[in-house]
Amino acid sequence: MEIRNLVRVIEGRRVVDDVSLTIMPGQVTCLLGPSGCGKSTTLRMIAGVEMQDSGEIWVDGKLVCDTVFRVPPERRGIGLMFQDFALFPHLSVADNVAFGLRSCSAEEKRARVVELLDRVDLLRFVDGYPHQLSGGEQQRVALARSLAPRPRIMLMDEPFSGLDNRLRDGIRDDTLALLKEEDTAVLLVTHEPEEAMRMADEIALMRDGRIVQQGAPYNVYTRPVDRAAVAFFSDANVLGAQVNGALADTPFGQFLAPGVPDGTDVDIVFRPQHVRLDFDRNGSGPLPTATDGVPARGTVVRARFMGHESLVEFRMDFDGSILKATVPNVFLPAPGKTMWLTVPRNRCFVFPVTHM
Ligand SMILES: Nc1ncnc2c1ncn2[C@@H]1O[C@H](COP(=O)(O)OP(=O)(O)OP(=O)(O)O)[C@@H](O)[C@H]1O
Ligand SMILES: [Mg+2]
Repeated sequence: MEIRNLVRVIEGRRVVDDVSLTIMPGQVTCLLGPSGCGKSTTLRMIAGVEMQDSGEIWVDGKLVCDTVFRVPPERRGIGLMFQDFALFPHLSVADNVAFGLRSCSAEEKRARVVELLDRVDLLRFVDGYPHQLSGGEQQRVALARSLAPRPRIMLMDEPFSGLDNRLRDGIRDDTLALLKEEDTAVLLVTHEPEEAMRMADEIALMRDGRIVQQGAPYNVYTRPVDRAAVAFFSDANVLGAQVNGALADTPFGQFLAPGVPDGTDVDIVFRPQHVRLDFDRNGSGPLPTATDGVPARGTVVRARFMGHESLVEFRMDFDGSILKATVPNVFLPAPGKTMWLTVPRNRCFVFPVTHM
């Protein structure tokens, strides 16, 4: 499926602003972005339940929808699974799953229903009713229902958000396996980076109606396009600096800013897990190196144990600002303790400050 230059204007605001995307069979593409950035609106236009102001949707090289021509939603071969999925309460589990199966015999229907219920591990409920199922079980039935007609494209809008964490991981992985098995092209909307990293082959990062970055999870995480893209995936530390001779001078030493004109304000952005910590030995820290730069001293403000890591906040000697560092496992230095922080160069991002 190819989406070309989709635009949706609501009350004079470009809620979806020139979005283009390609989605491939057997692949999960995640539309990831903060609340209100236009994810659901994009999905609704693709599903055909909302009309775009401009742009086109193509499937298999055939036009499905532009501003003049439109294939009606039910004939697009697109499966939908939304957060507020609703099973039909008066229909049995089997009939719910069979609901979208039209042009096939009763035996074929039954076989497909059994196959899918078995796959989501709910065959024992085949003749039960929705009210007899837990929330997670209902969600799996809804999944089976949306997959029953073998849609080649599946649109999912935060389909796992109603579930508790542990249940969610299991259902997410099962869903993913099922979709891959059926070679479905999936567009999954979420505002949670962890979910996107877990599910996606490709992430399209969306902000203010636009896709600001697209790529494999690893690339989007390790080569963010701007400060907000860093901060969307994790905590981010930011140092302000000014460029002089393609170098930005900071208390952590100089950072390369190739191609950035003299006098430009830049943000040097780095994640807490990349900050290196050293103990304070009578007021001195480690020696500067080319890769790690110059150490700067800070005082522990607080330290918290987060489960798989510890988060330590420092008040820096150089300007009193707070920087965060995370350390694997348990590391809980007492508040007031001084330590030296270094910032490895290959883990930092230097972005010119954009004044909006
Ligand atoms: N029918 C409408 N009337 C007015 N504003 C709308 C309408 N539909 C969407 N919007 C606005 O468009 C923007 C994008 O909405 P959308 O539902 O696509 O966001 P989203 O990215 O899905 O957010 P969330 O993660 O919270 O679900 C929001 O600011 C929303 O208020
Ligand atoms: Mg939404």
